[in-house]
Amino acid sequence: MRFKEKIAIVTGGSKGLGKVIAKQLVQEGASVVINGRDMRALEKAVQEIKEFGEQVSAIRADVSKSKDVNSMVAQVIKKYERIDILINNAAVFAESVHIMDLEEEEWDRVITTNLKGVFLCSKAVINQMIKQQYGKIVNMTSFTGKTGRVVYSTFGGPTKAHYCASKAGIISLTQSLAYELAPHKINVNGVAAGSVAPEGTSEDKMKMIIPLVPLGRMGTSEDVSAATLFLASDESSFITGEILDVNGGTLMD
Ligand SMILES: NC(=O)c1ccc[n+]([C@@H]2O[C@H](COP(=O)([O-])OP(=O)(O)OC[C@H]3O[C@@H](n4cnc5c(N)ncnc54)[C@H](OP(=O)(O)O)[C@@H]3O)[C@@H](O)[C@H]2O)c1
Repeated sequence: MRFKEKIAIVTGGSKGLGKVIAKQLVQEGASVVINGRDMRALEKAVQEIKEFGEQVSAIRADVSKSKDVNSMVAQVIKKYERIDILINNAAVFAESVHIMDLEEEEWDRVITTNLKGVFLCSKAVINQMIKQQYGKIVNMTSFTGKTGRVVYSTFGGPTKAHYCASKAGIISLTQSLAYELAPHKINVNGVAAGSVAPEGTSEDKMKMIIPLVPLGRMGTSEDVSAATLFLASDESSFITGEILDVNGGTLMD
């Protein structure tokens, strides 16, 4: 039980990878609070996660709004009197579009949720973690944040520049947070997932990606979750400011 008596927030825990991370944390003894914008989806996720352990609850909060985020964190502190782990997982995806056709509103939508969301959630938990002199923040970034393109982009084709820029920003923010918070025994790391196929990924997309993956298969949410839990655990207590690639060897840097 690596996470016995630990209190964790998993943003974007209502579906996909966040839900898998929340399940595994609960299974390993943590009390977990998930969030998202859709209360019905959150309630459904809580029921599913409860099959792995009772200690899970949900708070509706938009990570791009400081009022929502601060209220969520205040509720968690009121209930548990500490926060040990923050998994900054919530994000929105983007359509492939050339930069010359990328609208300002669409740029703002992606950057505001993906990058500002990580800033707001991290800022909201920091004082509590400093008080504890203990904390683990794990930020979900991506292959795209290191390469400026998606795995299957072609020369001259669209790259999802706004999504890539949001994930690159998260890498830099992870390093800044790690540097500033190290004296308080707070570890801040990132997971750069790539070539993964969460539920619902189309066969066509997988056929494009698999030939680019040295390990010869798509990654699963469980692959990414395992790396995330390692960075959220005390097994990685001498690691901070690291961005761990989980991409089957698609990018080796
Ligand atoms: N899937 C991939 O291939 C892949 C690859 C590399 C990295 N990643 C990263 O892994 C993470 C999870 O991806 P996923 O595929 O599991 O995504 P997903 O299935 O689309 O789930 C995203 C989660 O984020 C929540 N969310 C979105 N906007 C939000 C907001 N403004 N406030 C609060 N919650 C919000 C969603 O709930 P609501 O919509 O109800 O708010 C949902 O719970 C993301 O950071 C993503 O960038 C994914």
